[in-house]
Amino acid sequence: MPHKDRVNVFITGGTTGIGYSLAKLYQSKGHTVGVCGRDLSKINDDSLDCYAVDVTSEEQIKEAVKKFCEKNGPLNVMIANAGIAMGPKDGKVNFTLARDVIKINVLGVINTFDAAMENFPESGGHLVGVASVAALVGLPGAGPYSASKAAVLRLCESYGLDWKRRGVDVTAICPGFIDTPLTQKNDHKMPFLMSSEKAAGKMYAAIEKRMPLFVFPWQMNILMRFAEKVPRWFYRLIVMKGMGLAMPKAGSDSKTPEITNS
Ligand SMILES: NC(=O)c1ccc[n+]([C@@H]2O[C@H](COP(=O)([O-])OP(=O)(O)OC[C@H]3O[C@@H](n4cnc5c(N)ncnc54)[C@H](OP(=O)(O)O)[C@@H]3O)[C@@H](O)[C@H]2O)c1
Repeated sequence: MPHKDRVNVFITGGTTGIGYSLAKLYQSKGHTVGVCGRDLSKINDDSLDCYAVDVTSEEQIKEAVKKFCEKNGPLNVMIANAGIAMGPKDGKVNFTLARDVIKINVLGVINTFDAAMENFPESGGHLVGVASVAALVGLPGAGPYSASKAAVLRLCESYGLDWKRRGVDVTAICPGFIDTPLTQKNDHKMPFLMSSEKAAGKMYAAIEKRMPLFVFPWQMNILMRFAEKVPRWFYRLIVMKGMGLAMPKAGSDSKTPEITNS
């Protein structure tokens, strides 16, 4: 069922970027919106109900959603959008950052869904996980990010099956490149880059239709699904050629990547 009546929506990572654009869109349609982020100085908008929350803390996200619901009534839609990416691709393997990516992008989504399930009415609700097209393949320089988003995709697929009978729909969204603070630090090309307002419009429509999976823009959907389906040796060949690397011969020494923990 589309959310035609006024609904209560909570968006994690709603202080900037995609989350903020989604929050403003929901608000403009007459819905009640709560947002959270770790640093509320990033948002300068008194019209939104804002909570200082680190989604890696089960207690913090549960407390914030409980407060939002005490004010506004039961939750109807939870959008687990908070996430971080790997940062500049300098060729170094950063395991500290890798741990943070998994904690925020995976554990954060589990904590967020947990908080939502405690605050949905008996009739059910709608969970939305913001993954990425990076979920569909292992992207170079973004192993933990790709892994974290693949986990979100699979969590959503499984939970969608588990909770359908309880009236809970689950939507996974895989955006391509969206112009936000997260991508503004990228120094590589970003094909089919889209504004966060346009992205929010497309995501809103997919959520309204309760689509189990939405991958956009369509060009990125075709490209990444092709990359997902081809034999893995062919994917490696294409990507390594693109990176200007020769395919290592079986048994030959490969160059060890530089490792950093800071
Ligand atoms: N931009 C893209 O091209 C793109 C493409 C595919 C998928 N995505 C995904 O879309 C989501 C939103 O990304 P964006 O591009 O809008 O990035 P963004 O502008 O950097 O926004 C990220 C939001 O998440 C919050 N956040 C980060 N870590 C958090 C934590 N531990 N606890 C609570 N909030 C946290 C940030 O606030 P604080 O830092 O203050 O906590 C901010 O509000 C992410 O999951 C991202 O992976 C983005």
